[in-house]
Amino acid sequence: MPGAFLVTIGVLHPGEMGAAIGSAVRSAGHTVLWASTGRSADTERRAGEAGLEDAGTLAELSRRCDVLISVCPSHAAVDVARDFTAFDGIYVDANAVSPATARTIAGIVPRYVDGGIIGTPGALRIYLSGADANTVAGLFDATIVSNASALKMAYAAWTKGTAALILAIRDLAEAEGVGDALRDEWLLSQPQLFDRLASAERSARTKGWRWVGEMEEIADTFAADGLPDGFHRAAAEMFRREP
Ligand SMILES: NC(=O)c1ccc[n+]([C@@H]2O[C@H](COP(=O)([O-])OP(=O)(O)OC[C@H]3O[C@@H](n4cnc5c(N)ncnc54)[C@H](OP(=O)(O)O)[C@@H]3O)[C@@H](O)[C@H]2O)c1
Repeated sequence: MPGAFLVTIGVLHPGEMGAAIGSAVRSAGHTVLWASTGRSADTERRAGEAGLEDAGTLAELSRRCDVLISVCPSHAAVDVARDFTAFDGIYVDANAVSPATARTIAGIVPRYVDGGIIGTPGALRIYLSGADANTVAGLFDATIVSNASALKMAYAAWTKGTAALILAIRDLAEAEGVGDALRDEWLLSQPQLFDRLASAERSARTKGWRWVGEMEEIADTFAADGLPDGFHRAAAEMFRREP
């Protein structure tokens, strides 16, 4: 990478979050590319709105970029990395994956930085770890930690795990015919749960398909540390069931 000045960064791929990150680094003056081959009209629209330049193919992206940042669904992170076994820049995997999956990706790409994104596209924080983390931190205004993937797993274990739990409780109460009674009791003693349920339902509808893999990664993280993994296996099942 030519110093930590202006560099060319590739986004894999400009989803809601990838486009936001691309837009942020572009505002800092860096050139930001994406590759349209195989991507959907939605991704193309987001890339256009974020002002990202289309390199066309992954091979061209690899040839032109100093840094690649992978921001895709958890279940796709390893496959996305496999196209960059010979990439000579820094590959940042910023996906919600377990430390074990992060190590797998580190074994695929030559220069790997582990990343974790927390927040929303409008208010995000990026955590990085690894040998080249300092070099990348300047580009993304990120925070260096000892294990970015583990931090992301621990954080999302609560935010998305509890979303799944309240969906399961809703379904249990309905199945037992006490849905209305539970709502009446919540009104008296837990009124904040109405907002929580509405937010979980909204997220599950729009992002549940992507959270299945993320819950499995979190469950694997618990299991690897000798902790019960059932909470998040069940959370994955709840998101799998959402229409
Ligand atoms: N959105 C958030 O608020 C948020 C917050 C924190 C962290 N994140 C992290 O950001 C990452 C992506 O989230 P997002 O909200 O940007 O998702 P998204 O809007 O659904 O975008 C996902 C992107 O990945 C591409 N993609 C989907 N399936 C793929 C596959 N099998 N192989 C390769 N690319 C694939 C999509 O391209 P096509 O549609 O063209 O296939 C799209 O460009 C996740 O790891 C998540 O943990 C997001």
